[in-house]
Amino acid sequence: MFDVNEIRKDFPMIVNRPDLIYFDNGATTYKPQSVIDAIVGFYTGYTSNVERGDYETAAKADKAYDGTRKIIAKLIHAEPEEIAFNANITASLNQIAYGLSRMILKEGDVVLTTEAEHASNLLPWFRLQKDIGIKVEYIPVDRQGVCHIEDVKKAMHDKVKVVAMAHVTNVLGSVQPIKEIAAIAHENGAFMVVDGAQSVGHRIIDVKDMNIDFLGFSSHKMCGPDGVGVLYGKYKLLQQMEPVFMGGGMNARFYPDGNIILKDAPIKFEAGTPNIEGVIGLGAAAEYLMHLGMENIMAYEKDLRAYFAEKMLHLDNIDFYNPDNETGPITFNAKGVFAQDAAGFLGSRNICVRSGNHCAKILHDIIGTDQTIRASLYFYNTKEEVDRFVEAAKEISIENAIGIFF
Ligand SMILES: Cc1ncc(COP(=O)(O)O)c(C=O)c1O
Repeated sequence: MFDVNEIRKDFPMIVNRPDLIYFDNGATTYKPQSVIDAIVGFYTGYTSNVERGDYETAAKADKAYDGTRKIIAKLIHAEPEEIAFNANITASLNQIAYGLSRMILKEGDVVLTTEAEHASNLLPWFRLQKDIGIKVEYIPVDRQGVCHIEDVKKAMHDKVKVVAMAHVTNVLGSVQPIKEIAAIAHENGAFMVVDGAQSVGHRIIDVKDMNIDFLGFSSHKMCGPDGVGVLYGKYKLLQQMEPVFMGGGMNARFYPDGNIILKDAPIKFEAGTPNIEGVIGLGAAAEYLMHLGMENIMAYEKDLRAYFAEKMLHLDNIDFYNPDNETGPITFNAKGVFAQDAAGFLGSRNICVRSGNHCAKILHDIIGTDQTIRASLYFYNTKEEVDRFVEAAKEISIENAIGIFF
């Protein structure tokens, strides 16, 4: 049974700050006590480095750290050896872009993406555009940020070697038809790279069913600690791929002449001492989510968003940009009020939202505005919170927004 009031008790931030309405989950999420306990448990019970020690606590740390690969593999339907840990999805996407540039990309090749992407899924490709002369091209998206299959087919051609896009976009919450797009990419001999920052932890993810080649995501957006990310890749591709970072832990041998023999994937992507407590905390987060059930989380969020969207459509002072999307944030502006001023007004009512361009700077040419307010939900938010939010949103006006500063 999915009982949100019971679930809320698992989150110390909700228990300690019941006055806050936290609708900034797209930026980062709250952490359940089990995640905090897992991190504290490591520091108070078995602190040691991993993959290096021959004593009891080191063996326990190895087991917990490597055990997280199995947990994450279960969450996304992959194999444990296809899971590498790093700092965040930004690190994963940089690794994928660098790795593909050393593996296959050459001057004139095309990376196909969309204008709705986060900077983390554009800037690494832009760098390759400058450095090796690849070209970044865009599949058009509609005003809700959704990419349509006919447009993917039209945009595809024989120079396209990579298709890289978010599963769920971070500004409009558009869910892209990744499985169908991956099939088109593969028919044309291109790799499919997916940014899962806003989808893993919210939806059922099956990398095998979607048949994608690479996926990245961040722990902190799915109840886990900061500073931990996941790189998923099909094993044979990870084996072929060169890591960005070289150093301890990831090499099998090296010689005075500079010859280096790397360990197998995924270890070769984890140079240096990793974020051990973070990875252990991520494992606890993934177990917590699977215990709730990803299908339950999806259903609850969909229902809550529909309730929220319906209420926002009735507000005369609000421009609401993504009413048709079933998932992701409620993205809006208060008419005539600068987004940051409106967010400041909501903040003065203890409502946490994000304003600005949300690192998706090109998308705003499509929706016709540069700055928006994003109210992003998670499974621990409630309809009562939505009601309180809507009452506050009704009051956003230039006078009220400026009034908070005087
Ligand atoms: C779609 C998307 N991709 C990538 C990122 C970058 O995530 P991180 O800062 O954890 O690397 C974000 C963060 O908001 C995002 O929403």
